[in-house]
This record gives sequence, C-alpha cells and structure tokens, in this order.
Amino acid sequence: MKFENLLFALRYPLVTMEYVYGKYYKKKSDRLRWHLTRSKVAYLKTRSSLAELFDCSLSMVSRAKDDLDSSRILKELSKISHQAKPPPLSFAEMTIVYLTVRLLKPVIAIETGTGRGFASSAILQALEDNNMGILYSIDIKHGSGDVIPQHLKHRFVQHIGSSKDMLPKLLKDLKKCNFFLHDSIHTYEYMMFEYECVYPYMNEGDILASHNVKFPPKGKTAFEEFARENTNNISSVFIYQNLGLMRIGQSH
Ligand SMILES: C[S@@+](CC[C@H](N)C(=O)[O-])C[C@H]1O[C@@H](n2cnc3c(N)ncnc32)[C@H](O)[C@@H]1O
Repeated sequence: MKFENLLFALRYPLVTMEYVYGKYYKKKSDRLRWHLTRSKVAYLKTRSSLAELFDCSLSMVSRAKDDLDSSRILKELSKISHQAKPPPLSFAEMTIVYLTVRLLKPVIAIETGTGRGFASSAILQALEDNNMGILYSIDIKHGSGDVIPQHLKHRFVQHIGSSKDMLPKLLKDLKKCNFFLHDSIHTYEYMMFEYECVYPYMNEGDILASHNVKFPPKGKTAFEEFARENTNNISSVFIYQNLGLMRIGQSH
C-alpha cells in the first residue's frame, strides 16, 4: 500500500471502507452502467460511484465534501426546505448536485424549475467554490429563487417563462451546456422534451441530470428511456434516490 493511500485511509476510514466495499460489489453490465442506489448499502457507495463517474480519486470527492460541510449552506437550507411546496431535492440529493458540479467544473450550467432555489443554491455554491461558471435558471413563476443567498447571485441568471419556450431560445444563444438539471414539470413528455432539447448542445464529459427520474413508479420512465435510446453516446448513468445523472460520451 502506498504511503499516501495509508494516510488517506487513516484520515477517512469510513470513506475507505465504502471504496473497498463499492469495488467489491461493483457490477458492470454492457455499455450502460446503472448504479441503482436504493438501499443503505448503496448510500455507502455514493462517493465511490461519483469517483468512478468522474474517473477521479476518492480523495478529490472527499475534499469537495469537506468544502461543502465548511460552507454550511445546505445545512442552513435544509432547516427550511421541509416547508417548501412542491418539495425540492432532498438534502442528500443536493449534496450530490453540489459534488457533481464541483467535479465537473461547468462553464455553463442550466436548470429548469428554479422553485425557491434550493438546487440552485447547491449549484451556485459549487460554482463559487470552483471559482468559475454561470447558472441559467428557468421558471414559469416570478419571484422564484428567494432562498438563494445574496453573495451567490452574481453567478445566477434568471429567465421567467415556460421551459418549452425558454430552453430552446437559451440554448440557441449559449450554444452549449456543460451541466443540465431538469426540475420543472415531471411528466414523461415534458421530461423527454427537455432532455432531447439540451442533449445536442452537450459534449463529451458533460452531465445531464434530472430530478424525479423514478416517475411514474410503474411503467416507463423518461430518464431510463432516454438513456437507452442514446446508449451509444452515454458513458455512465448514476441514480441516487430520485436524482439521475448521465455522463455524455463513449464508454471506455
Ligand atoms: C419541484 S419545483 C422546483 C424546486 C427547485 N428545483 C428547488 O430545488 O427549490 C418545480 C418548479 O417548476 C416550475 N415550473 C412549472 N412549470 C414550468 C414550466 N413549464 N417551465 C419552467 N418551470 C416550470 C414551478 O413554478 C416550480 O417552481
């Protein structure tokens, strides 16, 4: 064992255990790798799955998580998120959104369904910690994003209107999107529309993320269907609770 690995294992014993555990239980299917993380066991695998998704070291994921903990932003937001209607992403899902943006380092991030701005805050904190990137956010309602801390708003551009109209226009202007998060209307047609709209503007390594990927609970889900249709250009898929991430590109 290398000295630096030993030091890491001593400093982060739980993370090391989850890494070893994750490696042991890793099941590779064909081109598309599904990390269906429903159980507690899967929760332990989350960080190692993210390291695998981004092809980076586990210590990089852990450092980003340390930054998140020291900012305390999600802890503050989680105190009020249970009152939000409709309910936003869970605390754990917001953590994954934050870590994803930290590891990806997008220049252009787009989300639909700003709502009160819980997910936006996680994305904006990650952009701030990366010291790069802008979040373009679309919501049909005025007054969205009220929980976003003032000091993060310099990276936030709000568009009011339906994503059906706004998303194609925005993408035409920006010409690319490195990170996309769907959280507007969770119907099969609407989700599929947004994925199909943004996908041509994404390149190798970019991330297409979506909330409510397990909706409807019975029958075909838009996220899974979309991943299967585009399997040749999606290198990995990661699902945690009701949040899905697809990495664009050929699998190695
Ligand atoms: C589940 S909430 C979003 C929660 C938010 N992402 C958060 O973390 O706080 C859904 C949002 O989608 C917005 N919405 C509904 N229809 C929309 C549409 N056609 N285009 C854009 N946003 C829409 C709603 O106004 C609502 O704020």
